[in-house]
Amino acid sequence: MVTNTQLRLVRRPSGRVSNADFERTEQPIPALADGQALVRTHYLSIDPTNRLWISDRAQYMEPVALGDVMRGIGLGEVIESKSPRYAVGDQVGGLFGWQEFCVIGKGAVPAQSMPAIPGVPTSALLGACGITGLTAYFGMLHLGSPVEGETVVVSAAAGAVGSIAAQIAKIKGCRVVGIAGGPEKCEHIVDRFGLDAAVDYRSPDFADRLSQMTPNGIDVNFENVGGAIMETIMGRMNVGGRVALCGMIANYNESAPMLGDFSPILMQRLRVSGFIIGDFAPHFAQGIAQLGEWIREDRLRYDETVVAGLEAAPAALNQLFDGANLGKLLVDVHSAEH
Ligand SMILES: NC(=O)c1ccc[n+]([C@@H]2O[C@H](COP(=O)([O-])OP(=O)(O)OC[C@H]3O[C@@H](n4cnc5c(N)ncnc54)[C@H](OP(=O)(O)O)[C@@H]3O)[C@@H](O)[C@H]2O)c1
Repeated sequence: MVTNTQLRLVRRPSGRVSNADFERTEQPIPALADGQALVRTHYLSIDPTNRLWISDRAQYMEPVALGDVMRGIGLGEVIESKSPRYAVGDQVGGLFGWQEFCVIGKGAVPAQSMPAIPGVPTSALLGACGITGLTAYFGMLHLGSPVEGETVVVSAAAGAVGSIAAQIAKIKGCRVVGIAGGPEKCEHIVDRFGLDAAVDYRSPDFADRLSQMTPNGIDVNFENVGGAIMETIMGRMNVGGRVALCGMIANYNESAPMLGDFSPILMQRLRVSGFIIGDFAPHFAQGIAQLGEWIREDRLRYDETVVAGLEAAPAALNQLFDGANLGKLLVDVHSAEH
């Protein structure tokens, strides 16, 4: 009998995630009620926010309850349907969770139809042409508001969101400086994504190098990391600068407050805008269309790191905090079976 393997949260981690924070359970695949469909999840998106969701920090959604299937964004195929909205074979996305199969539709998990986009591989529907790309797109264009000739700094610039945000600022004609961990990633983001410069935050001369690479100061900070890196960037912001506060991954494994010195916001009259990508949902179709076009034109490139099998998900989450991923981190849920 085919069962549904699930990973349930059984303990809130302190610091890094461990396999023992999750329990593997096998459940029968539930029978569908009218208005429901069954999805076989293909890819799970592994996101820094997964770590927030299993903490008891105040956040933008309820934390995952102990005992529940771990929350996670997935992409899969409808394999059975009792819903007029979903046909067998449809590709759909939603919060399918860390499990192999998910019931969607009436009284179950909501799902969006995600048809193939010409010239865009399926996996990118969770990455550069999905939530990740949309985060970069709306965060950079609506909140960063880059103007041609300005200097834009993006942290975690070799990562999924950062690499896209940085290229969008290049498309808009800015000088773009990426921050990444280690010389290899720094070289990569200049060579592959065409950034003007890269600065290694692990290097002891990080602050000096950032100053050298931003001789005219910084107009836009697309912030993915927070902590000491953000404070160093904030110290170089120009009057009237904008901060698109996308994430603060440096703090997610801790329980301490996330923000430090606020004074540049006053002194430099900055506009600091936090955002959660769901805020832009009514505009997603337009964003996806533009991202897809840039990908087809090879003006927007992306990397993916794919790990095999559902049970690799907890360890994969730690990769984001070690910088072991390059670009979008995905779990290929069923690949370990082959
Ligand atoms: N606001 C929203 O709606 C929204 C949506 C999606 C994502 N986000 C945020 O966007 C950020 C990036 O997410 P992502 O999915 O694209 O992940 P990602 O950038 O692909 O992966 C995280 C990267 O962060 C870097 N990093 C981790 N810990 C660090 C630290 N202590 N100091 C400096 N760099 C560190 C690592 O790169 P290095 O190797 O360079 O260290 C790692 O590869 C996260 O903060 C996330 O929460 C926000």
